[in-house]
Amino acid sequence: MNALTQDSKRAADRLGLVSDTIVIDGGRPLHGTVEVRGAKNLVTKAMVAALLAESPSTLRDVPAIADVRVVANMLRVYGVNVETDGDGTYRFDPSNVERAHFAEIDALAGESRIPILFCGPLLHRLGEALIPDLGGCRIGNRPINFHMDALRAFGAVVDKSYEGIRLTAPNGLTGANIELPYPSVGATEQVLLTGVLAKGTTELRNAAIEPEIMDLIAVLQKMGAIITVEPNRVIFIEGVEHLNGYEHRAMFDRNEAASWAAAALATGGDIFVAGARQQDLTTFLNIFRKVGGSFDVREDGIRFWHPGGDLGPVEIETDVHPGFMTDWQQPLVVALTQAHGRSLVHETVYENRFGFAEALNAMGADITVVPGGLESPTRRVARRPLEQSAIINGPTPLHAADIEVPDLRGGFSHLIAALTAHGRSRVSNLGLIGRGYERFTEKLTALGAVFELAD
Ligand code: EPU
Repeated sequence: MNALTQDSKRAADRLGLVSDTIVIDGGRPLHGTVEVRGAKNLVTKAMVAALLAESPSTLRDVPAIADVRVVANMLRVYGVNVETDGDGTYRFDPSNVERAHFAEIDALAGESRIPILFCGPLLHRLGEALIPDLGGCRIGNRPINFHMDALRAFGAVVDKSYEGIRLTAPNGLTGANIELPYPSVGATEQVLLTGVLAKGTTELRNAAIEPEIMDLIAVLQKMGAIITVEPNRVIFIEGVEHLNGYEHRAMFDRNEAASWAAAALATGGDIFVAGARQQDLTTFLNIFRKVGGSFDVREDGIRFWHPGGDLGPVEIETDVHPGFMTDWQQPLVVALTQAHGRSLVHETVYENRFGFAEALNAMGADITVVPGGLESPTRRVARRPLEQSAIINGPTPLHAADIEVPDLRGGFSHLIAALTAHGRSRVSNLGLIGRGYERFTEKLTALGAVFELAD
């Protein structure tokens, strides 16, 4: 069993998925309604924030995804009492936070990247933190140097041992002056979760300002933190002595919403995404419209559909917010294989986010990935050495194939490709999709997809 399949099986087990493989009879437009709940990339961070409090927190709209299960278990390992009503409301009681045994921490190694965000909260609560090997999607090197440099600036001492990364704070944590080399989402969250209880003021420059980060700041403010977001990616944090628990409804998952929108377009269908909000999707909606998709913003969600006629090509550069999210490109590329002409997608955030293209080509797509990226007169984002561009020539009919999911978003694009292609496709490593898409097989049924879960 290869490493990816192992990752997938662990995630599938966490969710109790009956099968790690789906057989899809594709070529049918998806029609119907799906609901998106709390954003994976906010919920898991808000769960970590609960560790900073002196009283219990309540988080609503938590999706049933494997990453939530992993973080809940990590909190439990540290003595946080985690309860759920089974329908998206979680309660975290951190009154008995305690040190964990290495074996318990190690048992969760390799399953998620969120444990890195436990550093600051654990240093505040216990004076030390032991972080296991990190997991997460294999979409690039994903170094943690920004995180460690920021923690050192707060006064943490970082030691690497055979057990993982051990951090201590012999003199406590003190507010710091930090400039990130790149507006990293995770490193910004690290600074927020550490700065709120550090002594004195923290100034963070070149911070990420994704909506999920703004929602995390809202959570921390409810807890008693003082955080000011200034223009030009500057965030000030005035450290406080105590934080209380919060009550919060998580913002919707805009990456999931964009994924279903792409599925509607690629399959020639019509999907109402209940819970989607225009404000956090404006960049995506512009591109969706340019490709030829139609959408209708309603009070309780957004309807996305293929209006008929030909789709057109586009040029996209992924970027930090408010740019086009890297997480949106993989699902949309499937729709671009059906557009008339040559589309260009420049991936500037991760060095390996076109891993899914090989399978699409095996299904009949015409995608060329250019390492190092392509110049283009219309490009605005500063080139990064790690970038790649994809040239997508369309339209190409897709035919069925046996494919293996490479990562979360790439995996969803495989699902869309299989739903678009005529014939029976077999998609394996479904557990990787379950890391971030809740009940996706039930949602596919509601949309009229024809499939069965294989043994
Ligand atoms: N980077 C470094 N050093 C660091 C941290 C990041 O060089 O210490 C680099 C990364 O290698 C990458 C870039 O900075 O080239 C951006 O990484 P970032 O830290 O912003 O990403 P992340 O926090 O690891 C989160 C989401 C990703 C999403 C990115 C970009 C979570 C759990 N993950 O990752 O989501 O793509 O931000 O918005 O919030 C997904 O949901 O499928 C997913 C991968």
